[in-house]
Amino acid sequence: MTYDKLDVSPKNHKAAFVLQHATAEDAARAMIEGGKQKEPFYTFDMDEVYRRIMHFRKMMPRIQIFYAMKSNDSDMMLKLAISLGVSFDCASSGEIDKVLQLNCNPKSIIFALPSKTPEHLIYARESAVGHTTFDTSYELKKIKQYWPEARLLLRIRADGDCLYKLGEKFGCDFDTEAVNLLEEAAALDLRVVGIAFHVGSACSSVDSHTQGLRKARALFDHEARAGRKMHIVDIGGGFLSDKMNRIDQVSKFINMALEEYFPDPEVQVIAEPGRYICDSSTVLYCNINNVRRVKKENEIVNMLYLNDGLFGTLRYNEAWHTVEKFKMSGCKEDEKLETAILWGPSCDSTDRVMENCQVLLPRCTAFDWLVFGYQGAYTFGFASDFSCLPRPLIRSVVSEELWAKIKNCMVFSPTDFVTNPDLSTPLPSRTPRILPSNPNYGYTQTTLKL
Ligand SMILES: Cc1ncc(COP(=O)(O)O)c(C=O)c1O
Repeated sequence: MTYDKLDVSPKNHKAAFVLQHATAEDAARAMIEGGKQKEPFYTFDMDEVYRRIMHFRKMMPRIQIFYAMKSNDSDMMLKLAISLGVSFDCASSGEIDKVLQLNCNPKSIIFALPSKTPEHLIYARESAVGHTTFDTSYELKKIKQYWPEARLLLRIRADGDCLYKLGEKFGCDFDTEAVNLLEEAAALDLRVVGIAFHVGSACSSVDSHTQGLRKARALFDHEARAGRKMHIVDIGGGFLSDKMNRIDQVSKFINMALEEYFPDPEVQVIAEPGRYICDSSTVLYCNINNVRRVKKENEIVNMLYLNDGLFGTLRYNEAWHTVEKFKMSGCKEDEKLETAILWGPSCDSTDRVMENCQVLLPRCTAFDWLVFGYQGAYTFGFASDFSCLPRPLIRSVVSEELWAKIKNCMVFSPTDFVTNPDLSTPLPSRTPRILPSNPNYGYTQTTLKL
C-alpha cells in the first residue's frame, strides 16, 4: 500500500498527520504561522487518548472500558478506541449505527440509556446488541414487548459530588425501588444480569463509586437469595480529568471496593468513562474577528469577537478549561493581562463564552488567535447549526510510534493517515463557495438599492 502524502483534499481532511518529531502544538503553530488556515480548528492528539486509556487500564486492571462515545464521537476517536480494543457505551440508535459502521462487534456495545423508544429497542435487537439498562417499570414492559431476550442491567442512583447530576434524571432509588424492579423483571421472565450506576459527570468525591459498588453488592445478594445470578457490574463514568493524580486516588477506592464486594473474578466489571478518555486530547485554536475596547465600571475591558462560540463548540465552560493568547514564534508578547469579554460569532447577545469566570488576556488584535485547552469532551457534539455558522474542523495527529501500533488494525485504511505531511497544510474552508451563475427563479423579491 502506498500512503498518499499530501492528499488533504476536503474529503480526506479527517486523515491523521503522522508526526515524527513534532507535537500537536507544532502542527497548530505551522498551520497558523503558515498563514493559510483562516478559520478556527481543533487539534486532536491521538497519543493523548492512548495514554489515557493505558493509564485507566493500568490503574484499574479489573475493569473493561466501554467508552461513552457521546463525549466525543469524532471518526478518528472512535477508530482509535476500536483499534485499542475498547468497547462502547451507546446512548442512541444513531450512536450504535455509527460504531457498527466501523465494524464494531455489537456484543461490545452496551445500550446504556434507561429510557428508550420502541424503535430504539427494535433497532438494538435487530443490530444484535446484547445489553441495555432500565430503571422503571414502564421500561421493563417495553423491553418485554420489543426486545425480550435483552440482557438487562438495573440502573440505580448513586450520586457523588459532581458537576452534572445524572442521578436526578436516571437511576432508581436503591431503598424503595430497586428490589421491586428486580422482582418485576423476574415476573416478566426477563434476564437481569447486572447493576449499573453513574456517580454523575465530573465527579470530585473519591469514594462515590465505592458507595455504588456497596449498593450493587446488596442487590447481587438479593438476586442470589431469589435463585437468580447476576454477573456484571457497570460503574459508569464520572472520572474527572482535571488532575492526573485524581484518577489514581479514585482507582484505589474502586479497587479496594471491588476486592471487598466483588472478589469473584467471574463477575465482569465495566466502566463507561467519557470525559476522562478524551478531554485532554483536543485543543481549539480560535481566531479573533474583531476587537472593541470599552469602559465598564471604570475598567477598560477588551471585547473580543471570536469565530466560534456558544452555539458552536464552546457551549460549556468547565473550571479546568483554559484560554490563552497564541504566541507567534519570535514575537515579544506584552504580558500585561487585561479583562476580556469573549463574544461568539453569532448575532445573539447571549453568545458569550466563559461568561461564568473572569477572563484575563494580554491585549489582542483582530489578527490574533486564542488557544482553548481541554476541549475534547462534550464540545463539538453540542455544536448547533444556529445561524448556519460553521463548526471548526479537526486536524488529527499521531506519533509515528502509535501509528506503527494501530495502522494495520482493520478499522483504519491507509488513507486515514498522511505520512511526511506538510504541517502548515490548512483544513478545508467552511465558507460556502460562490455559485458559478446566479439563476433567476422568477420570484419578485425586494432588492437593496445600490
Ligand atoms: C450512562 C452514562 N455513562 C457514561 C457517561 C459518561 O460520563 P463521563 O463523561 O462523566 O465519564 C454518561 C454521561 O452522560 C452517561 O450518561
